[in-house]
Amino acid sequence: MTDGNKKNPGHQGKEIDRVSGVETTGHEWDGLKELNNPAPRWWLWVFYITCIWSVWYWVVYPSWPTLSGATEGSYGWTQYKKLAAEQQEIIDRQNAYLDRFKKASFSQILKDKELYAFAKAGGSAAFKDNCATCHGTGGAGGPGYPNLNDDDWLWGGEIDTIYETILYGIRSAHDDTRISEMPAFGKDELLEAGQVEQVVDYVLSLSGKGGEHHGDLNAGQQIFEENCASCHGEDAKGLRDSGAPNLTDSIWLFGGDRASVYKTVFEGRKGVMPTWVDRLDKQTIRQLAVYVHELGGGETREASASEQAAPMEATPVQDESSASDEDVAPSEVAVPDEGEDSIDEEDSSGVSEPLEETAVPVEEAAPPMPEETETNSHDGE
Ligand code: HEC
Ligand code: HEC
Repeated sequence: MTDGNKKNPGHQGKEIDRVSGVETTGHEWDGLKELNNPAPRWWLWVFYITCIWSVWYWVVYPSWPTLSGATEGSYGWTQYKKLAAEQQEIIDRQNAYLDRFKKASFSQILKDKELYAFAKAGGSAAFKDNCATCHGTGGAGGPGYPNLNDDDWLWGGEIDTIYETILYGIRSAHDDTRISEMPAFGKDELLEAGQVEQVVDYVLSLSGKGGEHHGDLNAGQQIFEENCASCHGEDAKGLRDSGAPNLTDSIWLFGGDRASVYKTVFEGRKGVMPTWVDRLDKQTIRQLAVYVHELGGGETREASASEQAAPMEATPVQDESSASDEDVAPSEVAVPDEGEDSIDEEDSSGVSEPLEETAVPVEEAAPPMPEETETNSHDGE
């Protein structure tokens, strides 16, 4: 290992490889010597080009880290700016629709394909952000939270009515909220315990659920007529003026088993739908109204007109703490009349791009958590 010319120092002169005739670098590994061939030309060019490119990149793009971030680059490009530009493009496109959307009435929106798509896309996104916590992602609801897909409405399924419900809420903190309450007939001793049993039996019988009778149904019916019909209607089919549900169908807000109905009548109920007028902008709420209306159970004005006709009778409930006559908000609200509008079909030809699934940004999307309502009392069926 110590003989041979491996120790031949490089500075002394160049060693020439005997086989190839090329000079060596003087580096040797286990007898293998490195030839001092020049780098291939193509390789050198690539190397030079990348050097030039990297210098160009340093100058043009943000590259060198500094204490406060990085050098800006002559081009001024940042990912933030790119994102902002892309977002602006979306907002511009939305604004084109928004302007028309603002001016259009609900019935015009329903007739105009583009505005309709715009409303549904925005409404769907806003619904997921704000409403799904209580009503479920698809609006199917749950105990205490009404299903918004069906055509069973507490307060009304006409688009203006839905709009007002969303604006001011139900038993919410807003002054214009919808009110009226299911009184606590047992707890507040408006009825005796036996009477509660009787009227519960009667209510159950209305939807074909007999249950075990605690008395004769006639007594229950009597109690119903005197205490319940003012809100739920003589026929118990519900009155929208008081948001009182239909008790003759198989759709139950709080559960239709005996224990749930008993609990409703004994303890009362107080479903709260928050007000949105201060939390969402008006156009978002209008989009929501269209979206909810189109979920499946939306009504037209004519269809719901008959429901509104039934006048409210004075409620016999003698309890100041619960809904009194004056508290019962008439749901006959002034709805802007846009019945006979003739929407020009040409109007909609202005913008032809297909609408993307983008929502108008929702200001402050902080949905409240659902209030604890003890609704899951399906035991003791
Ligand atoms: C905190 C829970 C909660 C949230 C969040 C909520 N709701 Fe409600 N909503 C309710 C409850 C409870 C009711 C039923 C009130 C009652 O018992 O009359 C209701 C009722 C409604 C009704 C009336 C249904 C009918 O049959 O008349 C509509 C429409 C509605 N909500 C739409 C919405 C929309 C749209 C949003 C989102 C902006 C929303 N809700 C968010 C709890 C909520
Ligand atoms: C002041 C009006 C009012 C009176 C009087 C009234 N209710 Fe109600 N009732 C309501 C309202 C409003 C609701 C819905 C409660 C809610 O959504 O929070 C309701 C809900 C109910 C429900 C629940 C229905 C469901 O789908 O889960 C039952 C059952 C019921 N009432 C039975 C009665 C009976 C029985 C009486 C008479 C002893 C009565 N109500 C008297 C207003 C009234």
